Amino acid sequence: MKSKHPGPLGVAAVVKASKDPSFTPRPSIWDEFSIPDRVAIVTGGNRNIGLEMALVLSEIGARAVYCIDLPGQPSDEFKLTKDYVAKFGGRLEYVSADVTNQVEIWDKINKIGDDEGRIDACIAGAGVLGREVDCLDYSAKALEEVMSVNVNGALFTAQAAGKQMIRFGLPGSIIINASIAGTTTIKGRQWVGYNTSKSAVLQMARSMACELGHLGVRVNTLSAGHIRTTLFSDVVEPDSQVFQEWAGRNPLGRLGRLDEMRGVTAWLASDASTFCTGSDIVVSGGYTIW
Ligand SMILES: NC(=O)c1ccc[n+]([C@@H]2O[C@H](COP(=O)([O-])OP(=O)(O)OC[C@H]3O[C@@H](n4cnc5c(N)ncnc54)[C@H](O)[C@@H]3O)[C@@H](O)[C@H]2O)c1
Repeated sequence: MKSKHPGPLGVAAVVKASKDPSFTPRPSIWDEFSIPDRVAIVTGGNRNIGLEMALVLSEIGARAVYCIDLPGQPSDEFKLTKDYVAKFGGRLEYVSADVTNQVEIWDKINKIGDDEGRIDACIAGAGVLGREVDCLDYSAKALEEVMSVNVNGALFTAQAAGKQMIRFGLPGSIIINASIAGTTTIKGRQWVGYNTSKSAVLQMARSMACELGHLGVRVNTLSAGHIRTTLFSDVVEPDSQVFQEWAGRNPLGRLGRLDEMRGVTAWLASDASTFCTGSDIVVSGGYTIW
């Protein structure tokens, strides 16, 4: 493992400065959040939460961020974001792949490792809501559809990224997009497949964190609450009573914005969170505390 401690930080820096006049006091917290020259991958990075997380990785200095998603060609929103990132010297790349295909996702992420010589951060963000069906009638096919993306796909992505982190002997951060639906249920909705899949990835991350910790690879989950994206507005009428009800179910009394994924992404992907692994970070307006 090539990682090294960046030197005295915090009060240790204060002590160092008091003993060593050549040590210049300066704020270092933004350096800890910064990932210059690092390479990241984001599945589900063509739109919404995945694209937002890819953008923030570029903003904190990643040399290249690869967005991996199903469509053969990236969305207009991706293309605009790519151009925006290029203006401050970053690089967003688009790769078409299906996370449910283990061989394909391993090969494509291995190729990114070949091309870039490193992979430091991975966001397994691809996800589907699946069908809304009474739990007693939820079919094998419906369950297979949601589990294959949300569980199998998250595992295949995290495996592929972990292999590259270990291949290059660098510490890494793997973030799996879980959901508040992994620990609580969305009242009144028949989403047994989705809820089950999101619960599964919480334990997947803990399990991987235990196996990979000694290799310097951290694995955490990010559990968002209700964020305004097409994941839900495809199935629930936008601005309907349902959204108002959801907003009322957290202490902040509103749905989350995409940009509210930014700070936590920067923290989890960077050295600002080096002692955090196997944790579920909940960003939900407090949804789970009521
Ligand atoms: N929107 C929310 O309120 C919310 C809340 C909690 C968690 N999440 C999770 O965050 C993630 C992103 O959600 P979103 O709201 O941005 O949804 P979204 O539907 O906009 O994005 C999901 C992305 O995953 C991609 N994808 C689906 N199947 C794929 C496959 N087989 N291979 C590759 N890519 C595939 C889709 O093409 C899409 O771009 C999901 O895992 C979701 O479960 C969302």
